[in-house]
Amino acid sequence: METFCVFLLLAVGSTLTSPVQDSKDSLMYPYGPNQGDMENPKEDDGTSPEITLTEPFAFYGKQYHSLYVNNNGVVSFGVNVSQYTPDPFPLDGGSPFVAPFWGDVDTRIAGKVYWRQTRDQAVLRRCTADINQYFPEVPFVAVWALIATWDHVAFFRSASKKVNTFQAVLTTDGNIAFIMLNYADIQWTTGPASGGDPKTGLGGIPAQAGFDSGDKIHYYNIPSSRTADVVNIGGTTNVGVPGRWVFQVDEFVAAVTTESIDCLL
Ligand SMILES: *[C@@H]1O[C@H](CO)[C@@H](O)[C@H](O)[C@H]1NC(C)=O
Repeated sequence: METFCVFLLLAVGSTLTSPVQDSKDSLMYPYGPNQGDMENPKEDDGTSPEITLTEPFAFYGKQYHSLYVNNNGVVSFGVNVSQYTPDPFPLDGGSPFVAPFWGDVDTRIAGKVYWRQTRDQAVLRRCTADINQYFPEVPFVAVWALIATWDHVAFFRSASKKVNTFQAVLTTDGNIAFIMLNYADIQWTTGPASGGDPKTGLGGIPAQAGFDSGDKIHYYNIPSSRTADVVNIGGTTNVGVPGRWVFQVDEFVAAVTTESIDCLL
């Protein structure tokens, strides 16, 4: 409840005092060098090294012990990702993806990609409170989280000032696992190599958001993915908090989730 109330307060305040998008900063978990984040190399289509997880993460019946944080807006298990034009889920390749915003990011132009694993008590308390609020029927106390943040990232061959800020939070109690996707500010959807307009970052084949377990059965495309409307993903949600999507991913419960999404949208 706490986060939701804070969000509402900030949203109300922002209509009086500041641009609306500022209110979305409250969605983001703390990130950046001050938080001890690692930073990916500033590259086009770059990735993190293989990150060995200090707590295994369950994703649809499989335990993963490492992952990659890829500049192009994907957290992947098993393989790193340099593909810049997104495909809809399920993918042919069978690699599990958590895709907050899969598109043609280029951090040589602007922005940074950060990540860290954490057992910081304040962060874990926030994970626990958020998940308990959205999934009151699931007993959950977070013991670990991975926070991956794309901070003011530009697109490949951008001829604009447009940047996107979004985040993926993975959290587990050692057994049950959740992913949370936070959209603070989405200004572009497509790089020119995917058919987009270099001046607007729109058009072509826009970004894809959602997740894919890699088994061809358990996957979810957030509505508006790979359409022009995905630029407005920050106004959509499946948990009553615009700009936030949360899924339990240790086993498939999206049949229920999908119904509630349909009701909300
Ligand atoms: C990404 O995968 C490619 C192909 O498997 C490999 O050559 C490259 O070293 C990997 N990059 C990182 C950062 O692990």
